[in-house]
Amino acid sequence: MCGIIGYVGPGKASQILTDGLKMLEYRGYDSVGIAVLKDGKLEVRKDKGMVEEVSSALAFTTMGGNVGVGHSRWATHGVVCKENAHPHTDCTKNIALVHNGVVENFSKLKSELSAAGHKFSSDTDSEVVVHLVEEYSKTQPPLKAFMRAIGRLEGSYAIALMSAADSEERLFLARRNSPLVIGVGKGEMLCASDIPAMLKYTKTFVALEEGDMAILSRHGYKVYSSDGSEVSRKQITVDWGVEMAQKGGYPHFMLKEINDQKHFISESLASDVTGARKLMDKYDRIDIIAAGTSYHAGLMLACLLQQQGRNAQAFIASDYPFITSPKEKTLVIGISQSGETADVLQALRHAPKSPKLAITNTVGSSITRLVDHTVFLNSGPEVGVAATKTFTSQLAIVYKLIYGKEKLGGLPALIEKMLASENHVKAIAQKLASKENVFFIARGRNVPIAYEASLKFKEITYIHSEAYPGGELKHGTLSLITEGVPVIALAPKDDTLQKLFGNIREAKARGGLIVSVTDDDEVRKESAMSIPIPSGLDPILYPFALIVPLQLLAYHVSVLKGINPDRPRNLAKSVTVE
Ligand code: G6P
Repeated sequence: MCGIIGYVGPGKASQILTDGLKMLEYRGYDSVGIAVLKDGKLEVRKDKGMVEEVSSALAFTTMGGNVGVGHSRWATHGVVCKENAHPHTDCTKNIALVHNGVVENFSKLKSELSAAGHKFSSDTDSEVVVHLVEEYSKTQPPLKAFMRAIGRLEGSYAIALMSAADSEERLFLARRNSPLVIGVGKGEMLCASDIPAMLKYTKTFVALEEGDMAILSRHGYKVYSSDGSEVSRKQITVDWGVEMAQKGGYPHFMLKEINDQKHFISESLASDVTGARKLMDKYDRIDIIAAGTSYHAGLMLACLLQQQGRNAQAFIASDYPFITSPKEKTLVIGISQSGETADVLQALRHAPKSPKLAITNTVGSSITRLVDHTVFLNSGPEVGVAATKTFTSQLAIVYKLIYGKEKLGGLPALIEKMLASENHVKAIAQKLASKENVFFIARGRNVPIAYEASLKFKEITYIHSEAYPGGELKHGTLSLITEGVPVIALAPKDDTLQKLFGNIREAKARGGLIVSVTDDDEVRKESAMSIPIPSGLDPILYPFALIVPLQLLAYHVSVLKGINPDRPRNLAKSVTVE
């Protein structure tokens, strides 16, 4: 959701915060702001809009000072406007705060503080926290006042706060159910919602745990648990390079990340799954929970396990608590690229007695602390809001769990071949960019890929799109297939083809514009446009061949429509509210 960054050290805070916010923008991008402390004075600049435009319009980097906090917002409480943008300040304009999450008891706290004379300048839940700290600071030293204020909060929060009244240049941090990571530099300290924003300065991090609070100064950091006692938290080191979180010459992160798949697939295949396989063999029932793109990887895992006769089912994470009561003998697998999706974390907590396994890309993320065992994707940071390389990495892990690595050696070359179809895909994109509806059809294990292709398409092109198992067309959706309506058929030459071909003909007979991804000549002839799959492929690898050109298709339609595929409207990459 929102992105938070903080800095204290010898460097120019405004520059470091602005650069960091650009890296964090995928977490939310409706408003942006920074606060810095210089010569004991607090200065705040903020407005609605994207980081690039607001930071240059308000000349963020002309602000002096060596300590500061910054924020990019994804609105939850209050409309998108300057007043509701962070940082928020107290009545004296001495304390500045940035917050990610939802303070659930904010209206009670707000009434209490209003009665005590506090004046609010925004509609946000976040602002109450800074006034609460102000209130307690009247009688207590800064750390005590901060801890006392945090103790009053219900809901979720990642908070960074600083005060001009503090005798030292320090940042005060707290987290519960929203991510916050400390970056440990040499003579400087940072904090951010996510690691990529800090990679330029350090590779050593400390992920705060639920309920933790911390103080950062340029000399180091101290972490406190929710009862106020000092605790020690493990440092982690990542081997991600700064360039991994940059565009590397591509016009968008999404296109770079689609192309990156040819490299990262090998990294993912190298991930150790032995512990996970042992766990999976031990339990009769397997529940898989995930959201968005990760749910589609979960569907694939469930489908392949079911084909092996196993009792496995994939659930939408946010619905899992309403429809299940997992027993001790059920293995619960959470799949989450970020490891921070609130719906997924909540669903895992719904199964307190079950053994748990996580599949995630993010070392030190919240999901890793909720499970017994974790498998890492090793995909490097993914910045585009629409997940691409992490999806194929999730598929690679799923495949390794089911088939072992031996059968998957050809994957990097296959992905490279599918990437080579980009110009052809671009020509098809031109024919689809003016459409209002698009339908994807597939059968069997290709259905999760159709769902994922459709999700990619709708989230970044704003064209209405649905995906179905082909057999379902005749049970309702055919009524929507009229002259020129695109039907994108995922039609590889596997055991699903014959039946799917029937569905393709049904759609064509109603005027549907058939676009196929196929290695079958007959299907190609029936199609208005077709994306080729190389012949002679091992049928188990078809899902990888299908998804890559369909990611490219969504990307090119998006660009043709003048949309920024990295920042689709209303969406955020990491959704840390339920
Ligand atoms: C958001 C993102 C999606 C992502 C989903 C789940 O909705 O926009 O791209 O698939 O969250 O994220 P996760 O990090 O749990 O895989």
